[in-house]
Amino acid sequence: MKTPGKMFFTVAALCVVLAVMAGVTSYSVTLYRLFCAATGANGTTQRVAVDDAARSDRVVTVFFDTSVSPALPWKFAPVQRSVKLHLGQDALVFFTAENDSNQDLVGHATFNVTPEKAGSYFKKIQCFCFTEERLAAHQKVEMPVDFFVDPRLATDPNTEDVHEITLSYTFFHSMKPEGATDLARFASAPADAAAGGKLFAENCSACHGLETSKIGPALAGVVGRKSGVVAGYPYSAALAHAGLVWTAVNLDKWLADPQMFVPGAQMPMRVNDAVQRRDIVAYLQSVSKRGS
Ligand code: HEC
Repeated sequence: MKTPGKMFFTVAALCVVLAVMAGVTSYSVTLYRLFCAATGANGTTQRVAVDDAARSDRVVTVFFDTSVSPALPWKFAPVQRSVKLHLGQDALVFFTAENDSNQDLVGHATFNVTPEKAGSYFKKIQCFCFTEERLAAHQKVEMPVDFFVDPRLATDPNTEDVHEITLSYTFFHSMKPEGATDLARFASAPADAAAGGKLFAENCSACHGLETSKIGPALAGVVGRKSGVVAGYPYSAALAHAGLVWTAVNLDKWLADPQMFVPGAQMPMRVNDAVQRRDIVAYLQSVSKRGS
């Protein structure tokens, strides 16, 4: 991992999508803007639509790195070590935090992006950046971060050579626990299978039945199933031999970009919105349980 100049922003609240804006103005407005320009003014929850036209062929790998100060008995880890994505492509990643102690504790996080020169191209769409955050005794949560890397990274001569970016978070014991928000809000941030069912009807059902193959293979029971195994369906060689298991994570990658995930695969569509992907996968999960 490269570690050029440290760009530690000791800023507790850079951006907050949930309605926790009270403290924000006391922090750095510039940094808030830098990291959260995409969130909309004053932390409104509007999402930036990732402009598909602006998506570039350039691929970067984003690594995630976490640490916790020894004074805070929490476990804090990225769910995925890295993601590979096109510039301009929306990615949804998760971090878990768990309070190992017998008491409720408040922490706050700082982050840095390396190389430093890539920092301003790293955009969060849904900024679950951390304010003063309370985790109840022995509670565990999964916190989402939705981001993309600005395609201008590829045209800025200064950052042309950047192929890897690392996002690091460190959690510290909070010095100002008053007014902390509960991380419990993430414990129950459920994917919406009903919304996913609607999206499926609109976006997938022209090509996929649940029980019958159409242009694409039947999808009932797909979660947990091996790739390329629907009897009688004429898969591409690429998918027939991919040897994947359709876990939620793999389905998310597939829907984000089938050709990138399985080079040579022939599903001609992508779902750019990470939340929509999550809901669709939840829907596929629900029909997979029923089917088995
Ligand atoms: C325009 C037609 C089309 C649309 C729309 C489409 N797919 Fe597909 N899908 C395909 C084809 C074709 C394949 C097989 C690809 C291959 O063999 O390489 C496929 C394969 C798949 C597979 C792999 C299944 C297996 O048995 O390995 C999954 C999962 C999947 N699609 C999910 C979806 C979801 C979810 C949507 C909606 C968001 C969707 N698809 C929209 C055509 C489509």
